[in-house]
Amino acid sequence: MKKMNIPFAKVFILGNEYKYIKEVLESGWLTTAGKALSFEQNFSNHVGSRFACAVNSCTAALHLGIEALGVKEGDKVFVPSMTFTASAEIIRYMGADPVFLDTEYGSNLITPEILLKGIEEHPDVRSLIIVHYGGQAAKMISAKGDGILGICKSHGIKIMEDAAHAFPSRLEGQMVGSFGDVTCFSFYANKTITTAEGGMLTTNSEEIYRRVKIMRLHGIDRDVWDRFTSDKPSWEYDVVEAGYKYNMPDVNAAIGLAQLEQADKFRSERQKVAEFYYNNLKELEMIDLPVCHVPFEDHAWHLYPVILNGNSPISRNHCIEKLSEAGIGTSVHYKPLHQMTYYKNKYRLTERDYPNAEKTWKGNLSLPIYPFMSDEELNYVCETLKRILGA
Ligand SMILES: Cc1ncc(COP(=O)(O)O)c(C=O)c1O
Repeated sequence: MKKMNIPFAKVFILGNEYKYIKEVLESGWLTTAGKALSFEQNFSNHVGSRFACAVNSCTAALHLGIEALGVKEGDKVFVPSMTFTASAEIIRYMGADPVFLDTEYGSNLITPEILLKGIEEHPDVRSLIIVHYGGQAAKMISAKGDGILGICKSHGIKIMEDAAHAFPSRLEGQMVGSFGDVTCFSFYANKTITTAEGGMLTTNSEEIYRRVKIMRLHGIDRDVWDRFTSDKPSWEYDVVEAGYKYNMPDVNAAIGLAQLEQADKFRSERQKVAEFYYNNLKELEMIDLPVCHVPFEDHAWHLYPVILNGNSPISRNHCIEKLSEAGIGTSVHYKPLHQMTYYKNKYRLTERDYPNAEKTWKGNLSLPIYPFMSDEELNYVCETLKRILGA
């Protein structure tokens, strides 16, 4: 087979990105203004939330969200171990402490059963960060009414959704971003739509929206755009809190607006990749494919993570090296947080408490996935993987 070069992720700038950026540059107003506002409006329309707040990263959105939920020093917050550190570090920003939960093998999601067990063991925890891992929505709601939202409500637990991977993503006909009090999205360069760096917080609560808007920009009671467009003198503003500097510049929002117009196309293209992998790899006894609880068309397919199981003749690291030699980019999502020095030492975490994350971590690797991957590229990835695994 002829060697190919296949990156792990690829960005596509195919729509109105240049046009909208030019409009921003020519307007002379590069920071947060009309384009950010339009991006927020179009995004909230897309997910069906009442409000959306554009910020300069998903981490910023998570920080603003947990602050607006009122999590404070000494509080405890559930978070999965199998996630990126941003999901947990923002708990520490507030002086609160993470309580790590294991996740389901194969989907890497917190399930209602795992949450109930966590509540039983830690009845003092009052908040939860749920991660829609890889682009698949966790079971927030269910036809039987035993979803995560219902459990949280009956136990007085506040919930924030980390949807860094999950745009556009759906559950039971409803878009992620419209369920809970706070949902946070990422537009980092390798995400399903990008603004280079950026994030969005959606909410249906006017109170949370108002708090987030003020804290997003220094705790000032008027945003800069408002100061320069309203009748009041532009110099006049009050500081009502010690806020942050998390606003999204219009140059980034311009890219986001154009990417949003292509989001559904990008998603369905990613789905084709997932289907190809599924059809070509499902018979291999040495790898476990992602467990999918939602129909393929409801999944954002940010990631395609596979797990080399006990039947694999080689280790995950060796497999990644061999794939890399063959020109194929991969990644690992994730080394679980209970294994990371800071969390492990601070909270004296032991591997025994996270059996599924441990089993996953021994063999997990994420295969290349991006829109418009050709059958030739996909075939090359599958055949190379089979050759390496001796299948
Ligand atoms: C699950 C998860 N949450 C949060 C983030 C943080 O996103 P950002 O880089 O936009 O701050 C990431 C980034 O990859 C992520 O994977």
